[in-house]
Amino acid sequence: MAPLAYGPAPEDDAPARAWLDARRAKLGHFINGRFSRAGKGSFAVREPATGRLLAKLPQAGAAEVNKAVAAARRAQPAWARRGGHERARLLYALARLLQKHARLFAVLESLDNGKPIRETRDIDIPLAARHFHHHAGWAQLQDELFPGRAPVGVVGQIIPWNFPLLMLAWKVAPALALGNAAVLKPAEQSPLTALLFAELAAEAGLPAGVLNVVLGDGRCGRLLVEADGVDKIAFTGSTAVGKDIRRRTAGRGISLSLELGGKSPFIVFGDADLDAAVEGIVDGVWFNQGEVCCAGSRLLVQESAAPRLLAKLARRLRDMRVGDPLDKSTDVGAVISAAQRARIERMVAGGVKDGGRLLQGELPRGLPAGGCYYPPTLLLDVPRDAEVATEEVFGPVLVAHTFRTSAEAVELANNIRYGLAASVYAEAGGLALEVARRLRAGVVWINSTNLFDAAVGFGGYRESGFGREGGIEGAYEYLKAPLPTRRKPPRRSRAGAPPEAAAGDGIDQTAKHYIGGRQSRPDGGYSYAVADARGGLAGYAARGNRKDVRDAVAAARAAAGKWAMAGPHLRSQLLYHLAEKLSKRRAEFASRLRQLTGATPAAARKETEGACARLFHYAAWCDRHEGVVHEPPLRGLALALPEPLGVVGAACPDEAPLLSFVSLLGPLLAAGNAAVMLPSARHALVAADFYEVIEASDIPAGAVNIVTGHGEDLLGTLAAHMDVDGMWCFRGPAEAKLVEELAAGNVKSSFVGAGVDWEAASAQGAEWMRRASQVKNVWFPHGD
Ligand code: NAI
Repeated sequence: MAPLAYGPAPEDDAPARAWLDARRAKLGHFINGRFSRAGKGSFAVREPATGRLLAKLPQAGAAEVNKAVAAARRAQPAWARRGGHERARLLYALARLLQKHARLFAVLESLDNGKPIRETRDIDIPLAARHFHHHAGWAQLQDELFPGRAPVGVVGQIIPWNFPLLMLAWKVAPALALGNAAVLKPAEQSPLTALLFAELAAEAGLPAGVLNVVLGDGRCGRLLVEADGVDKIAFTGSTAVGKDIRRRTAGRGISLSLELGGKSPFIVFGDADLDAAVEGIVDGVWFNQGEVCCAGSRLLVQESAAPRLLAKLARRLRDMRVGDPLDKSTDVGAVISAAQRARIERMVAGGVKDGGRLLQGELPRGLPAGGCYYPPTLLLDVPRDAEVATEEVFGPVLVAHTFRTSAEAVELANNIRYGLAASVYAEAGGLALEVARRLRAGVVWINSTNLFDAAVGFGGYRESGFGREGGIEGAYEYLKAPLPTRRKPPRRSRAGAPPEAAAGDGIDQTAKHYIGGRQSRPDGGYSYAVADARGGLAGYAARGNRKDVRDAVAAARAAAGKWAMAGPHLRSQLLYHLAEKLSKRRAEFASRLRQLTGATPAAARKETEGACARLFHYAAWCDRHEGVVHEPPLRGLALALPEPLGVVGAACPDEAPLLSFVSLLGPLLAAGNAAVMLPSARHALVAADFYEVIEASDIPAGAVNIVTGHGEDLLGTLAAHMDVDGMWCFRGPAEAKLVEELAAGNVKSSFVGAGVDWEAASAQGAEWMRRASQVKNVWFPHGD
């Protein structure tokens, strides 16, 4: 019997083209509620399916970007004052508006981006509406759920071309819901649905200036990043640009969230339902032409199942229908641009040159000559370190490798600089969950792939970025919880002399570093004099150098996995024990504080008591820092699990040297991180006393490492270290800038502040635990 063939099933594009035609002379930036075609030149927006011109739009220069930021600045206070209920009503209206005009949005998106109408109609637009609907709820409940947190203010939002409207929704919905005003820069390749949205939002009553849209390429994005008056930048795009933005925002006190690239593993175990896995792979890497940051582009299949799975996949590959995005039976549309197709071709050719075996679907005859099409592609036998196997292609290209054991699968999956997402296919639920927990990725889909929901946070580990979008984690990104600040200036020692200037009096008391559970001599063999409060000699401390910092990081890395897996109950017991040990030596610490800082006996006692209480506090937090279970709109659950960042460096201030040290160490340890502490150089002997407390406790070797010394060298080495996952710095503004700049190297998350009132109740607690961790969302669909 002859197979049934698909006939053409084109979606009518006349209404979308009519919408564009009617606005050709007016479409431009949307600033303070009006369209404007001012700018520095223009750029062309082309239809990826045909190469035909869709629109010519103005490129924003500094004047337009600053105007948009100023409009947002003016509008934001009144928008915040409207209150959660009023904002919720507007967000509901925006959700309904998206639903009402869903077909127009879907067709315009397919024209502009080249993605199949099936996907815009069934996924992008409904999900965008769901985001506004869900975030209306956060607005409504804002006062109840986020007491003490204020909107961040004016947020600059830069989005890519792969999910234009959906990325707009991910950014704009939480920002507006929580009382911020936004300046959005859509990608230059696909800005049209953002303009349709802006037009309709204004008609729905969104006040002028609350949402602004500026148009242009990366230069416009950069102007937005550098604009005065922006309080936060939220970026989705390539890792390279994310790093650039991290550097440009360093030291400006700007909040930042980065959702960057990925090279997500798709792991199939031998016992998996292979037909389901094949359909998963189709959705994982050929959905949206593979132009998906979390695309499952690295197939890791257990050796026992590899021949069967790859044979099924090769068959399925040939069935994929590539063609007109507006045809309802098209599986794979056009890639975004000729430049992107050239990048895909170059990377695939590189994979073949590296020894890869190429399997490709076919492009049908008769595709428009100016269109940008690329067939679904599978590369076998590519070396594991080939560019195509380790770098984001952003095209419909899958690279396959095999593994034998689950340990090997985890190792292969994690052996990459990214950590955005992963899929695990296995019938054995216990195995799947165990693997999910060991993967270093922000999202793990079990027996599923590419599931998204507005209530479930999305975002990466490692070089895939930091911050989350969606759910409560995403809401926190658009709120600020100010750190408690000291009213009085810090207590200064009378002499205020730098330790080097202290006069020696022959006392030989040299404190060492504490690395990997042992006191260790400084690599350089030098120590420095630590002054007491009167400028006399209190003792000597090890003068650390780069090598000491690297040794401390290596020790922390060796301990990090074990400490994280120790689990909350054990961590809690060990922290209680540590707190008890410190408590027993209270008098000794108080006297040290008096000696070094000149504190009165009462003040020194208070700081010591405070430090003990803080450790007890974090011991209590260990087994209360729990995740939540989401019930997204599918048959299944998503488990939001707070996990440690990994290895975290912490630079402590001079003030309250014991309390600040413990206030930083406590949440890091409680959340399961291994720490490299840089104590105050001036008061380093407090940290040296503290490692004796650690030695007397059962905290495992390497979980806490202490390197003393001063100068930017230690801080810089730690902040730039590629095996450090997070960096906390509570010294001055110059140190904060240095840390944020250097953190860009491997996109480590950073937490900086200065002038903190360490005695305040809010110098401890949930917010600090949140900053010490990152949430992994594990999706677990269920059913027969
Ligand atoms: P891109 O990162 O350059 O562009 C993303 C957005 O950032 C666009 O709106 C762009 O105009 C803007 N931009 C570019 N340079 C900027 C700068 N210096 N400062 C501020 N904003 C800037 O990504 P591009 O060039 O479109 O794609 C290149 C590769 O990046 C892709 O092949 C893919 O591998 C990756 N990519 C990853 C995405 C993700 O979602 N993770 C999204 C888009 C691209």
